[in-house]
Amino acid sequence: MRRRSAVRRKMLCLWLLLIGFALVALALSDLFNRDSDRNRHKPGPPRQPLQRIASPPDLEVIVDSHDPALELGADLTPLKSLQEDQLLFVPSIHGTKSSPQKKRSYKMLLPGASKDTTVRGPPTHGEMGKAVRLHLEGLERDMELRALQQYGFNEVVSERISLHRRLPEARHPECLGEQHIESLPSASVVICFNDEAWSTLLRTVHSVLDTAPKQYLQEVLLVDDLSQQGHLKTGLSEYVSHLDGVRLIRSTKRLGVGGCRTLGATRAVGEVLVFMDSHCECQKGWLEPLLERIAQDRTRVVSPIMDVIDWQSFRYNATQWPIRGVFDWRLDFFWESNPELQDKDPEMAVQPLQSPALGGGVVAIDRHFFQSVGAYDPGMVLWGAEQIELSIRVWSCGGSMEVVPCSRVGHLIRRHLPYRFPDQDLLQRNKIRIAETWMDTYKKIYYRRDTLAHFIRQSENPNITERLRLKRSLGCRNFHWFLTTVYPQLYIPQDKTALSGELYSVGTGRCADYPQGRGLQGGAMDVAPCTGTGSQHCDLNSEGEVRWGPTGTLCLDTEGERAVLSPCASHRLTPGRLQWKFIKLSGQLVHQLSQLCLEAVKEEGDNKRSTGGLFLRQCTHHPRQQWHFEQLVAPKGA
Ligand SMILES: *[C@@H]1O[C@H](CO)[C@@H](O)[C@H](O)[C@H]1NC(C)=O
Ligand SMILES: *[C@@H]1O[C@H](CO)[C@@H](O)[C@H](O)[C@H]1NC(C)=O
Repeated sequence: MRRRSAVRRKMLCLWLLLIGFALVALALSDLFNRDSDRNRHKPGPPRQPLQRIASPPDLEVIVDSHDPALELGADLTPLKSLQEDQLLFVPSIHGTKSSPQKKRSYKMLLPGASKDTTVRGPPTHGEMGKAVRLHLEGLERDMELRALQQYGFNEVVSERISLHRRLPEARHPECLGEQHIESLPSASVVICFNDEAWSTLLRTVHSVLDTAPKQYLQEVLLVDDLSQQGHLKTGLSEYVSHLDGVRLIRSTKRLGVGGCRTLGATRAVGEVLVFMDSHCECQKGWLEPLLERIAQDRTRVVSPIMDVIDWQSFRYNATQWPIRGVFDWRLDFFWESNPELQDKDPEMAVQPLQSPALGGGVVAIDRHFFQSVGAYDPGMVLWGAEQIELSIRVWSCGGSMEVVPCSRVGHLIRRHLPYRFPDQDLLQRNKIRIAETWMDTYKKIYYRRDTLAHFIRQSENPNITERLRLKRSLGCRNFHWFLTTVYPQLYIPQDKTALSGELYSVGTGRCADYPQGRGLQGGAMDVAPCTGTGSQHCDLNSEGEVRWGPTGTLCLDTEGERAVLSPCASHRLTPGRLQWKFIKLSGQLVHQLSQLCLEAVKEEGDNKRSTGGLFLRQCTHHPRQQWHFEQLVAPKGA
């Protein structure tokens, strides 16, 4: 029996191999035919470089084929480039107003989603179509997986989408009729890339060319930050040579985001620089509102609303306005949405909103202001936190930042980063530069929440001589000014000795914990092994609140007998609810409203979730109710 099925499997493999081979041959001839077709309709950029389809295992061209000779049976949906009207789209909700656009629902045609994949015997003549189909489905999944690993998004889907796809309208209706001032400055769009996928890179370029009015678009500067992948070499040079107004610059050493953008800036001639990531898609009319804001004030640095392109389906998800960029005490950037703001003021829908920070996806800045304010910090390597450094610097040294809602650009958010940092500490080193250059004594707050950075800082001195000189010569304000004037919403931890740090439970030898993935809305607290990284840091302040997390917006709260975290702002009106008292002598942490004590219960046996956690119990002197705040670091100058 075994042997027979083994023989059958071999037969099947042989069949599939043969079929696969035939398909490659067909596809190649198809491709050459199409290429010669194309040559007749020149001028036009060449198709993507041939090296991508040269080796037989790389069968993308087959799945992409439109050749009727490849009809494989009635039930196999032919795979076509996604047409514009196949775009999936989640309409944004513009406050309480309903937008005039209709909801559309489209189905993406992807093979293999729900089909039977069991193969039983060698294919008969009639089953051949099915076998081929199953084989292709397998390949398809393989390719998607490989692409996902390589790029962090579904590149196979991206390949099928037109480089010129038009995006569904996501702007507020009032943006559409907007008049702009007569003479807007010219723009150079600087797109840095490192081993970007072909389709996403070129879609970014075409999207700029297709949406930016010619009279304002000075040029598109593609800056290659030492890519290794073959398709970005001569194939790309060749492609770009056919595009009007696009220049390609290649760096001979790896510069990282900041260095690469600074290089692009030195070659740019437009009055305004627009730095754009290499996997974006622009909405119609995105450029003019940005240029207008800068024309009115050359020290304004502006960003569009960054919509989200889904890494799996490439569908376009509109981001809810109002939104602004912020960062937390671990110096991580995020976009913060405040839907309530708009309910109060419908006028806001089309008004630019000042923003303490801007993301790196798309930033527009006057070219001379960019240079005079110190470009990007050349001491920062690869990428990470450079947008926070730019933000603090722009604000502190005489500029401002805002998000302009009538400008929208979609940004592909990867599922994961395609490459790892060669050195895990690079991100911390960038952040240390920010802390040391810009944060004055507030840097302690950062180091307590990122102990790795603290330990690196203890053994290394960052060379920030030049940046401090710049800061002095520009007469920049201090971080206290930034916190009180630009970003007063950021909670400033008190971090008092013996009342802040990891909340260590004597009875269990563990720490109070709130898994990061649980989000900013709050949820049940756990006890977990102490991390020592600063991720479990909390701060019992003089109001009696136990503030948690790098933003300090979550407070230790109770729900029945469980200890939970909830947004501090939501319980302001219930006196005592969020108040705790720490009794140093007994180690008890007493909830003021209920006069109950915080108790740690370690999960036991199989029934983990239901037994472990943090609870409120009658106060006793049991070690499970004994706590202390473990301060992990005492940075220099503390
Ligand atoms: C886009 O929206 C859909 C539907 O709401 C959601 O399932 C998906 O996760 C979103 N994608 C991203 C990247 O936010
Ligand atoms: C720091 O950098 C400056 C130039 O940016 C250089 O002149 C100086 O020697 C450096 N200092 C140290 C200690 O390396």
